[in-house]
Amino acid sequence: MIPRRADFPKDFLFGAATSSYQIEGHSFGSAGRTHWDDFAATPGNVVRAENGAIACDHYHRWPEDFDLMQQAGFDVYRFSTSWARVMPEGRGAVNTEGLDFYDRLVDGMLARGLKPAATLYHWELPSALADMGGWRNRDIADWFADYTEVVMGRIGDRLRSAAPINEPWCVSWLSHFLGHHAPGIRDIRATARAMHHIGLAHGRSIAAMRGLGIGNLGAVCNMEYAAPADTSAAAAAAAQLYDGYYNRWFLSAMFKGEYPADVLEGLASHMPADWQDDMATIAAPVDWVGINYYTRKLIAPAPGPWPAHQEVAGPLPKTEMGWEIYPEGLEFFLRRTAQDYSGDLPIYVTENGMAGLDNLVGGAVNDAARIDYLSQHLAAVQKVAADGVPVKGYFTWSLLDNYEWALGYEKRFGLIHVDFETLQRTPKASYHALSRALTRSA
Ligand code: FCB
Repeated sequence: MIPRRADFPKDFLFGAATSSYQIEGHSFGSAGRTHWDDFAATPGNVVRAENGAIACDHYHRWPEDFDLMQQAGFDVYRFSTSWARVMPEGRGAVNTEGLDFYDRLVDGMLARGLKPAATLYHWELPSALADMGGWRNRDIADWFADYTEVVMGRIGDRLRSAAPINEPWCVSWLSHFLGHHAPGIRDIRATARAMHHIGLAHGRSIAAMRGLGIGNLGAVCNMEYAAPADTSAAAAAAAQLYDGYYNRWFLSAMFKGEYPADVLEGLASHMPADWQDDMATIAAPVDWVGINYYTRKLIAPAPGPWPAHQEVAGPLPKTEMGWEIYPEGLEFFLRRTAQDYSGDLPIYVTENGMAGLDNLVGGAVNDAARIDYLSQHLAAVQKVAADGVPVKGYFTWSLLDNYEWALGYEKRFGLIHVDFETLQRTPKASYHALSRALTRSA
């Protein structure tokens, strides 16, 4: 049973989240090419080599999607703007069709009583910037600050909140060390540079928005609970290091102006020159922090070079992503983030959800597993909030089934089913359950 609105503190916000490339349809509106188009066109990177050219066609169908948001009773909508849609070459010329689109979106939210929560970068780097080294190139901080000014100069006056970058770990480690996401690099020097430049770009973007007089700015980091695979000291150390480069690196930089010593042991020799001089910029004060949380990982030591560890399969029930369901991890991160990093600042769960089988049968999708997942995680949030941790809102990932990156359209995370042939939307049982829980009592 999903906890009800009345079970949460007054003013707690409920929302749903999406991102530009995953839903809009990148072939529409004169958007520029992105490194996800290139990554997907390279054999072996993405299931069926699918890309975001059409996606959910949210570019044209957004009024229907926002009507469904409104009917569900959500307070706030987390969306992202696409750099390549607004600046097709990443720098210089602005595509006014792109800016007009985001202008319409924001007004469309406001017209339906939905508070806009914007993210400036959810992974679709313009290909022209990838050609110049993308996140490996320190100049990306300047390019990103310029792009920030262009977007926020247009829509910044009507937002409830804004964040520069979605999930720095995915942009850097997942994409430059593991190579699972665009640009698909597997190189420790590229990783260290991306892990640093992303913080610098974040700080510069925050400063650019402050300069425009925009308030309520935050950072959105993804976190995975790292548990040792067994009781050995070596497994404990492996899990701690995983926690370091995944969960602590970015928060530590943004809130303390320093990188965790245990992670620097492995990365220091790969960092760009004089990185220390950038830490004050990276630690620009923010007004809130967002946590994206899905799962935990069991970590064991492994032979080979740093970080010398591996993930092993865990025993808990899993989602269609193969991710263990572990709501205790969300509770842990909410408490630790407040205690060790953000203090009294508001914390938002900016993403949480699961991929399910979600078959459309007789015009309905009975996604009982998702209702259970949301119930467990919302109960964790409720418990932590009752203990006084300043968690102020929760966003489900995602409003719609969408382009799940390297997994193409195969993994369904939505509260609303999308038929990717007809693009027809069908609210799932979880949408209806959440909607009942959010109804305000008279
Ligand atoms: C997060 C991403 C989001 C989606 C979910 C499942 O890491 O921010 O775009 O892919 O995972």
